[in-house]
Amino acid sequence: MMKNFLIYGANGYTGELITRFAVEGGMRPILAGRNAEAVGSLAAKHGLEHRIFSLDERDKVDTALQEVDMVLHCAGPFSITSRPMVNACLRNRKHYTDITGEISVFEECAAANDKAYEAGIMLMPGVGFDVVPSDCLAMHLKDRLPMATHLSLAFYGMGRISHGTQATMTMNVGRGGAIRHNGKITQVPAAWKTREIDFGEVTKTGVTIPWGDVSTAYHSTGIPNIEVFTVVPPSALKMMKLSRHIGWLLATGPVQRYLQGKIPAGGPTDEEREKGRTLLWGEAIDKEGNRVEARQQGPEGYTLTAMAALNITQKILIGDFQPGYQTPAKAYGTDLIMELEGVSRQAVP
Ligand SMILES: NC(=O)c1ccc[n+]([C@@H]2O[C@H](COP(=O)([O-])OP(=O)(O)OC[C@H]3O[C@@H](n4cnc5c(N)ncnc54)[C@H](OP(=O)(O)O)[C@@H]3O)[C@@H](O)[C@H]2O)c1
Repeated sequence: MMKNFLIYGANGYTGELITRFAVEGGMRPILAGRNAEAVGSLAAKHGLEHRIFSLDERDKVDTALQEVDMVLHCAGPFSITSRPMVNACLRNRKHYTDITGEISVFEECAAANDKAYEAGIMLMPGVGFDVVPSDCLAMHLKDRLPMATHLSLAFYGMGRISHGTQATMTMNVGRGGAIRHNGKITQVPAAWKTREIDFGEVTKTGVTIPWGDVSTAYHSTGIPNIEVFTVVPPSALKMMKLSRHIGWLLATGPVQRYLQGKIPAGGPTDEEREKGRTLLWGEAIDKEGNRVEARQQGPEGYTLTAMAALNITQKILIGDFQPGYQTPAKAYGTDLIMELEGVSRQAVP
């Protein structure tokens, strides 16, 4: 039997992009989602099979999973959608991947490690821009400084963000920030710290955000103190700081409904994606004060997400996987990211 995979949420911005890249690469995924019209017309456009079900239709989910070897879950926010799909993968003994960046989802998958191991399946959330490039960078720094105790990572995404990314960020807006401190994920205020980051071609002010690596880089490297920075426009930085005081209000149902309703559908156009790039920077420090630093450059974030997700999918489909909860760099090594076209990395002397 040919190995195959299911893309759930295929009609979303990123799901559609991944579908397109998959077909261009000669893959024939089964598309799925809850919107019959949108998923059906996407499947017809690419000549692919499709299945329609929502995540609470357990029998339909199970039937669809029995037809494939793994799921590439693209329907987010994943803090809402991941659990039913992970449970379905455990029940049906199928590998689970997704494109989340949400700490709670990574931690929930990590907690299901033993069940996944027993089922002989791999649970690998975060096969997109979050966290493949940064996870590999973290592992690269750890390899150069094995006794590192502190890790800082930063990314600068030069490009527009999609509907789903904005929806997920908006949903989490009142929840403050997070870092890893002495091995524990620790709540901190939104925009807790800023620092100047030298990305090589440009220096920018980075601000801490509760990004997926606060969870995953610890599982990959064991480094107990982790902070992740990103670059935002000054107006967004002000809003992040303001959210410390009005976060409770922004998190209420009516305000969330209003804000979510304002988010435009779609994401960057093909042209915008082609022009966009992503820059990463990382630093690891040990107890003696030894310090290593590295920079990494890559394609635009959604392009990179599609490339990384499909690269990992291809590996799993040929049987290259590790049972249990895995991070991308833990399962596939530091150089996983270097397999993607357009990625470069330099150790800063
Ligand atoms: N980590 C990364 O690097 C990365 C990169 C890209 C995207 N993402 C994440 O991926 C997610 C999708 O982003 P996007 O821009 O592609 O989103 P989008 O265009 O808004 O599409 C969202 C998709 O998810 C489906 N969906 C949402 N809630 C659902 C639910 N409760 N049950 C079933 N399906 C549901 C939608 O189905 P309907 O059409 O039926 O509503 C649609 O197919 C977001 O969480 C985003 O943050 C992460």
